[in-house]
Amino acid sequence: MTQRRFATRAVHSGHEPDPVTGAHAPPVYQTSTFAYGSFARGRRLFAGEEEGYLYGRIANPTTRAFERKLADLEGAEDALAFSSGMAAVAALTLTFLRPGDELLFIGPLYGGTEGFFHDVLAPFGVRVTELASERELAAALSERTRMVYLETPTNPTLKLIDLAEVARLTAGREVLTVADNTFATPYLTRPLEHGLTFALHSATKYLGGHGDAIGGVLAGPAALLAEVRSEGLRHVGGCLGPWESFLLLRGTKTLALRMEAHCAGAARVAEALRGHPAVARVFYPGLPEHPGHEVARKQMRHFGGMVSLELRGGLQAAERFLDGLTLFTQAVSLGDVESLATHPASTTHQLLDAETRERQGITDGLVRLSVGIEDPRDLCDDLLRSLDKLAESVAV
Ligand SMILES: Cc1ncc(COP(=O)(O)O)c(C=O)c1O
Repeated sequence: MTQRRFATRAVHSGHEPDPVTGAHAPPVYQTSTFAYGSFARGRRLFAGEEEGYLYGRIANPTTRAFERKLADLEGAEDALAFSSGMAAVAALTLTFLRPGDELLFIGPLYGGTEGFFHDVLAPFGVRVTELASERELAAALSERTRMVYLETPTNPTLKLIDLAEVARLTAGREVLTVADNTFATPYLTRPLEHGLTFALHSATKYLGGHGDAIGGVLAGPAALLAEVRSEGLRHVGGCLGPWESFLLLRGTKTLALRMEAHCAGAARVAEALRGHPAVARVFYPGLPEHPGHEVARKQMRHFGGMVSLELRGGLQAAERFLDGLTLFTQAVSLGDVESLATHPASTTHQLLDAETRERQGITDGLVRLSVGIEDPRDLCDDLLRSLDKLAESVAV
């Protein structure tokens, strides 16, 4: 049988009608523990001699359905869900990194991830080194390098990292390669197909898609994920609850449809912003002048739903522009059906020092837009109205 296509698998994979009741929607197994029935079976389950559910921190059937769906969509052997994207980052790195190991990351990253690397991992003796691009990887890799971590497109500057190049440069080494695939989603990019070890998500974003649940997921080789389940999940404890699992599972069913709308809307928005006198630069991988355009064409189905723009007039212009929006909501997060706008330097990336922000291009005039699935004409009207007002009020 030919492999079913993405949109079909997004709807169907990971769950079947309930064998007992026939329930068509995946049941929410709202339970903390599971009866093992007898002393002997309990002993076997805990010894790992028999498969089965034991306790909700380790696994739950609703969560398992979400994990199976994500594994299928990412083309991975398995997947593991967590209570947030940050819980996924913590579980993964705490399972595999030890004092003396080196973690190379290609910046920028989501500010919380970078903060975790510097504030939590580094004091435990992990050497954390930032690279500006995959081109610096060959020279930076050493005997101590245990993990290479990146996002593509990056948050918030939408820089593209060439995944096949990362895989080529790390091939033959004992290095785990991780792509945070939150911005692209498996609908646009599947990092494992390009040779990376893991794809990680803040499922809070496009996978859930409706801004009503926090979660994370990690897809990759089954044997490595079994280690993460028993150390990073079981011992650290950031498990996804059954209800959130249901919401994320339901959201993921419409991922293909929503991503088509997000990408089409973002392309229209990027085009509308380009050339406006108040805008110094538009960051969108779909624009031919974007430095990562060719890499995006190679590894993305479409160019994504995120657009960033640099305003002339810095912080003050950013404040006026954001306060002038009426349809876009000023809030962090992204990937919701509603459009969101944020000022990374004062919110998501505030914890980074000013010099790091400057180096990574997270300037005071940078605004990040998460383009929702509303009619793009209404979104462009909202943005242009606020930009026009800004252009009138300040000498840009
Ligand atoms: C790219 C990226 N990765 C990870 C995270 C962390 O995810 P969560 O907020 O679900 O913990 C975020 C959050 O904004 C993000 O944007």
